Amino acid sequence: MGRKFFVGGNWKCNGTTDEVKKIVSMLNAAEVPSQDVVEVVVSPPFVFLPLVKSTLRSDFHVAAQNCWVKKGGAYTGEVSAEMLVNLDVPWVILGHSERRALLGESNEFVGDKVAYALAQGLKVIACIGETLEQREAGSTVDVVAAQTKAIAAKISDWTNVVLAYEPVWAIGTGKVATPAQAQEVHLELRKWLETNVSPQVAASTRIIYGGSVNGGNCKELAGQPDVDGFLVGGASLKPEFIDIIKSAE
Ligand code: G3P
Repeated sequence: MGRKFFVGGNWKCNGTTDEVKKIVSMLNAAEVPSQDVVEVVVSPPFVFLPLVKSTLRSDFHVAAQNCWVKKGGAYTGEVSAEMLVNLDVPWVILGHSERRALLGESNEFVGDKVAYALAQGLKVIACIGETLEQREAGSTVDVVAAQTKAIAAKISDWTNVVLAYEPVWAIGTGKVATPAQAQEVHLELRKWLETNVSPQVAASTRIIYGGSVNGGNCKELAGQPDVDGFLVGGASLKPEFIDIIKSAE
């Protein structure tokens, strides 16, 4: 079975109620390829999830941007996977580089989060990616393999996982990876999955790219054989997100 193109919009810590309503209206009015061709998931901040979920077109879905590593309880400020399930939020983004870097989330912690979220019935967009320093040191593949290994060590079923390769140096910088750079890492990741998990998981798991994707560069990136979609930050707040969704065709 082919891998269905996946486009995620990570709104990060942005938006007011009015701005969120405008983005939803823009998305709802857009003509895009059918759900058979592309899976679209937008990820507003927690506080806007109910609003977006209740007003968004039914062929698009929502994701949270994070959740707690285990069952809820005395964890001030956290949101549990159980709560997301209770609200019918189907997806969660985990291991984003901003959380890894700014909040000290380790590979192991991210692996635990992915396992717990999957066990509660959530689908997971699991983020990995190297820093500029690591790329320049020639350790890109080692870094993303170690990040993937920490996830693979904790899960056995990859059906509900999308792997998002987001080179840190390309995030929010306007410095997008070239199609060849993205393809090279995606292929290495697929080979890693083939060797270390299974050929079936390697063939079926979607590996999407994130980092300065926009309406102008999406088409060429989407044409790479191992690029199965995108996780979009800044451009997901703008009308060009529709062009990015259309690059699925
Ligand atoms: O998760 C998406 C992301 O980090 C990329 O952000 O703004 O470079 O598209 P951006």
